[in-house]
Formats: sequence, C-alpha cells, structure tokens
Amino acid sequence: MYGLVSAVLQEKGHHVFTVAPATTVRQAVRAMNEHGVGCLLVVEGGRRVGLFTERDVLVRVVDAGLEPAHTSVSRVMTTELNHVTPGTAVDEAMAMMTRRRCRHLLVMEGERLAGLVSIGDLTRHVSLAQEDHIQRMAEYIRGVRSEA
Ligand SMILES: NC(=O)c1ccc[n+]([C@@H]2O[C@H](COP(=O)([O-])OP(=O)(O)OC[C@H]3O[C@@H](n4cnc5c(N)ncnc54)[C@H](O)[C@@H]3O)[C@@H](O)[C@H]2O)c1
Repeated sequence: MYGLVSAVLQEKGHHVFTVAPATTVRQAVRAMNEHGVGCLLVVEGGRRVGLFTERDVLVRVVDAGLEPAHTSVSRVMTTELNHVTPGTAVDEAMAMMTRRRCRHLLVMEGERLAGLVSIGDLTRHVSLAQEDHIQRMAEYIRGVRSEA
C-alpha cells in the first residue's frame, strides 16, 4: 500500500554508519551524536555482529551503572539483527518492527548490506504518501464540483 523499502532507501540514502566491537560506549555515543543517528552497526572483520542503539545505552549502560568510558560496545550491544530486503513492503517492515520491538532494520540484498531503515524513516514515508493521497482526493473532489 505504501510501496517498498527500496523507495525509503532512495529517499534517505544507502550509507550505514558502523563501529568496531572494542570501541567504548563513550566514543560510540559521540559518533552517534556527530552523525545524528540512533544506532551504529557493529562490525568485526567484515562480519555484522550486532547493533548498538540508544536503547542499549539507556538499559544496559545507564540503568546498569556501567561507566561509558570503560565499557566496550560489544558488552552491551543488541546481538539480534533484524532485516528486510529492498523488496519488502513498507507496511510489512513496520509490522516487523512492532512484532520484534525494534526501531531499526538492516536492508539486505542477499549477503550485501543495502542500507538501514529506522521507525522514523518508515513513518515519514507513510505520512508523505498519505498527504499525497489526500491532496489528489481533494483535487478530484474540486474537479467533480466544478463540472457539476
Ligand atoms: N525528517 C526526516 O527525514 C526524519 C527521518 C527519520 C527520523 N527523523 C526523526 O529523527 C528522530 C529519531 O528517529 P528514529 O527513531 O527513526 O531513529 P534514528 O534517530 O536512529 O534515525 C534518524 C535517521 O538516521 C538514520 N540512521 C540511524 N542509524 C543509522 C546508521 N547506523 N547508519 C545510517 N543511517 C542511520 C535513520 O535511518 C534515520 O534516517 C525522530 O525525531 C524522527 O522524527 C526524521
């Protein structure tokens, strides 16, 4: 109904910010703030080993009383990686986020990482599509009235 994940990637770009597992939480948080992103993909020797998210900082660092400057990302990262493909429907990707209680999905094209989408990317995409639909409906109604 709202198109495919490939369209969302076209809007936001394909680049994915990454971090090494040994990076400290403090360094990773700085990188997230610099790039304006809510997560970093954790990569070790070309392998995707986890996702370090804002939620990890809240639950596994701050609430657990760990010291950000002395805690590695690998200790607190989320190891379950959820993914979709560019051909996944946007509403299916949103449903997956709800089911799995996650806010980011990797976009995989076979073994190749094609990008990452967040809950905000999908919501924005849906909201723009709805605005477009409403505008077209309004134009249609105006057209019908002027003919009558
Ligand atoms: N205006 C926009 O285009 C837009 C798009 C997405 C999110 N947002 C806003 O940002 C805030 C938080 O968004 P969110 O919860 O969706 O998650 P978020 O803060 O993680 O995402 C913000 C943007 O960064 C991107 N991003 C996150 N991690 C990335 C990574 N490792 N590599 C590459 N890109 C990465 C996301 O895809 C998204 O485009 C919300 O306030 C939301 O409204 C705005």
